[in-house]
Amino acid sequence: MAVWETLTESINHYTGLSPTAFFTILALMYVTYKVACGFFVAADDYAAVKKANEFILREPVQLGDVTEEELRAYDGSDPNKPLLMAIKGQIYDVSRSRMFYGPGGPYALFAGRDASRALALMSFDQNDLTGNIEGLSASELEVLQDWEYKFMEKYVKVGQLVTEKTSQSKETGNEVESSKHDGGDISHENGSQVQ
Ligand code: HEM
Repeated sequence: MAVWETLTESINHYTGLSPTAFFTILALMYVTYKVACGFFVAADDYAAVKKANEFILREPVQLGDVTEEELRAYDGSDPNKPLLMAIKGQIYDVSRSRMFYGPGGPYALFAGRDASRALALMSFDQNDLTGNIEGLSASELEVLQDWEYKFMEKYVKVGQLVTEKTSQSKETGNEVESSKHDGGDISHENGSQVQ
């Protein structure tokens, strides 16, 4: 009780306000602060940012040969799996750009896919979500080439798409010569490259 009395006397002494008025003003200031914050960060955005920050960025793991079907599992829906994306049959670990490719991200549709055609055409059309680059013009192929260079520079290549796995690649998970995806036309020697 003595503490309370000292506190109320101090409030009155320093502010000239009654304790009730003082605490009412304090509460109003808190509410105003919360409302003002709400203008800048929506609650949903805040929750999304917090969730995105919960992911631990793991070192990229080499996967070797991967089929298109297997690649789908790396679309970010499983937080324990890396986020992968392929260009011209070469698979890159894009986990560090979860804000782009993770669920809810602007480019989430590309995750777990070979997005060569969509990137070449700068298209978000579902039908262009394929590694099939047949019939593209020279300038479209150039756009795709620029994307590929960007990815080679920024991300670690962790594997390559194959139409089906050979018994050897099933055993080792490593690259074998047969049944390679036919997308690429330049060498891809950046397997161990770090950003
Ligand atoms: C209004 C049109 C667009 C705007 C304003 C826009 C804007 C941006 C911005 C600001 C970034 C971040 C760049 C960075 O920080 O490195 C980005 C990244 C990206 N954009 Fe777009 N973009 C647009 C259209 C497109 C289209 C049509 C595509 C392909 C279909 C596309 C594919 C991408 C990809 C794949 C990335 C991520 C690259 C990476 O992993 O670093 N964008 N975009």
